[in-house]
Amino acid sequence: MRRKLAAGNWKMNGTSADLAQIETLARTHVGAISEILIAPPATLLHRASEITRTGPVTLGAQDCHASGSGAHTGDISAAMLLDAGASYVILGHSERRGDHAEQDSDVSAKASAALGAGLRVIICMGEALQEREAGNTLDIIASQLAGSVPDDVSGENLVIAYEPIWAIGTGKVPSLAQIGEVHDFLRARLEQRFGAQTARAVRLLYGGSVKAANAEQIFAIPNVDGALVGGASLTADDFTPIINALDAI
Ligand code: PGA
Repeated sequence: MRRKLAAGNWKMNGTSADLAQIETLARTHVGAISEILIAPPATLLHRASEITRTGPVTLGAQDCHASGSGAHTGDISAAMLLDAGASYVILGHSERRGDHAEQDSDVSAKASAALGAGLRVIICMGEALQEREAGNTLDIIASQLAGSVPDDVSGENLVIAYEPIWAIGTGKVPSLAQIGEVHDFLRARLEQRFGAQTARAVRLLYGGSVKAANAEQIFAIPNVDGALVGGASLTADDFTPIINALDAI
């Protein structure tokens, strides 16, 4: 069965002092049933990896370049992230798509590079509010899934995060039925494209304003295999009840 995944996306937050949060999580969740992932800024990956080497926390990065090396000032390759201690990389987050005009084809190329380097990928997708209100959510998800996920994935190295843009950092969350509808759709589309065995193994995360107060309800939805959490992953105090809610499912 799919192992549940509680993933924390720190975005552009965190300096050395915040490594203590990762240390606390690693200490608190020894023996956790769920997989626990923190994606700190790249500057903290190496030091975080020294803390998490033996514990229950794995590490991810928040982006990578599609090339393996070369003249790309300021960018970081997948192999460098792996070397720094990451085992996952988040790709296609709506903030990357918005801030850096990343297209589905860019996300797919980055995912291929990451998989080639030996990272697992968490590929994000989700609709804007106008798209939901216009009734286009499933069309948007279908085209992001088709365009952002490369062919060379397996059930083990692919995670998909459904993150409605309007729910990120806003405190607004779709209804449980709306989340369930998208996750069921994702599972069915994965099955069509990759076959039942692969589709059954891919973990589908919900992301957007997940916090202790709503985690239990969200995790009870079929086809929700965990969460990608932003703000509520920044401290161990906030993230721990979310991990515990996932462990309790
Ligand atoms: P949020 O962010 O939990 O702060 O809404 C989620 C995300 O962007 O991954």
